[in-house]
Amino acid sequence: MTLPTITGQKPAAAPEGGGQRTGLTAQLLRRKPIGQMLSEAEGKQDAPKLVRSFGVLQLTMISVGATLGTGILVILGESVPLAGPAIWISFAIAGLAALLSAVSYAEMAGLVPVAGSSYSYSYATMGEGMAWICGWCLVLEYAVSVAAVAVGAGQYVNETLAVFGNVLPDAISQPPGEGGMMNIPAMVIVVLAMMLLVRGARESAWINTAIVVVKVGILVFFCAVAFTAFNAGNFEPLLPMGAAGVSAAASSVFFSYIGFDAASTAGEEARNPKRDLPRAIMLSMVIVTTIYVLVAVAAIGARPWGWFDGTDAALVRILEEITGQPWIALVFSVGAVLAIASIVLTVLYGQTRILLSMSRDGLVPRIFGRVSRRTGTPVAGTLIVGIAVALTAGLVPLGSLADATSIGTLFAFALVNVAVIYLRRTRPELERTFRVPLFPLTPILGAAMCGYLMLNLGADTWVVFGLWMLVGVGAYFSYGRRNSRVAALSQEEYRELTRPRSSEYQSS
Ligand code: ALA
Repeated sequence: MTLPTITGQKPAAAPEGGGQRTGLTAQLLRRKPIGQMLSEAEGKQDAPKLVRSFGVLQLTMISVGATLGTGILVILGESVPLAGPAIWISFAIAGLAALLSAVSYAEMAGLVPVAGSSYSYSYATMGEGMAWICGWCLVLEYAVSVAAVAVGAGQYVNETLAVFGNVLPDAISQPPGEGGMMNIPAMVIVVLAMMLLVRGARESAWINTAIVVVKVGILVFFCAVAFTAFNAGNFEPLLPMGAAGVSAAASSVFFSYIGFDAASTAGEEARNPKRDLPRAIMLSMVIVTTIYVLVAVAAIGARPWGWFDGTDAALVRILEEITGQPWIALVFSVGAVLAIASIVLTVLYGQTRILLSMSRDGLVPRIFGRVSRRTGTPVAGTLIVGIAVALTAGLVPLGSLADATSIGTLFAFALVNVAVIYLRRTRPELERTFRVPLFPLTPILGAAMCGYLMLNLGADTWVVFGLWMLVGVGAYFSYGRRNSRVAALSQEEYRELTRPRSSEYQSS
């Protein structure tokens, strides 16, 4: 039977329908039918679509590539003074918040394996208003955070060059406001990642996998060396800053877990998404949390906690002191540049796929959803996102906005936990290839932990987040609300699309 499709035609006037409701409230609450998402992902027979080439290895590496990296290389200097030797507990708490949300992501990714990640999950469950808010938060999590991460490229390229007695002048390695005119290394990394992504998702995934192997190797190397200088006495007293210090540090280290959800943007490029997406998300979380806790234990075991206060690049300094080898700095600086490169590559990838989903729904311009017949990638969308991120990374000092990425991410994670609860209640019959254990406790705890970590972030961060959301509301009313395709469906079409059908229950 032929389903009515979301045609892509611009609605002539205010949308009709809205299930039983009309007007703004109706539009904000109108949910996108899951069956519709799945049929759009399959695409029309002759239309160019994304190429399904990823197995569980590449998907896991996409998530690890987007997560593991710059945070752990720099964050100990800021977070150990907050928590003391119990910093590893802060990593475990932040990891638990991420893991609980990862479990919910795994259930949703197995249920709705499309490219939009939590944006699509929110659209299917809480309606257009929440979906837009979630999509806007994801721009913070993806595009803004990747620009913020790339800003560090100038510093690490210089540390690498310094080993050979050369450095780039500040004018071309720092953004304005931080002593330079333009951060060229950051822009080069973003442009290279963009070109790779335009060429093909498969090539990009293989290069990412190679980089991830190197960056994991560097951190394992750190642990091996640091454990040779292990002093159990460094863990006493465990809580010099009390429980409050541990929890403040947990919010601060949460940044290093951002990105594990990147595999969930690859739902339309996975060979067997229903099976492999949940596995990849869980596997990447286990890998990343294990590495972070091990690095934290090894670092505190090697140096007393007071040593970290004001120490930049603590991991490199520990290795230099233990081994007495100056080339260690070179290894780590190269590792940091690679870490930045793979985060940029995978997160840029994720952002283009989320925008592709949003554009199908009419909430952002259609150009973001055009897939090239030749490469099977959204070429125009990738170029627009890549150039915007490159300019932001090269020209804007991103300090305060970068803090806001954690709050935006936590908000999106909380929504995914709520989406799991909602769909279990309203659509219990849908086929789930992965089920959240201990339901409903796990998603309730997941949402609560995200809320708790959000509350721990400073007032400045909330102000930046509030301003960001205001801009988002403006963007919705000036574009998305008027162009929404779900809102443009007539009541009959909408009813037909939301009618449960057997194909939704079958395994792929
Ligand atoms: N999780 C990413 C990092 O640590 C953002 O750099």
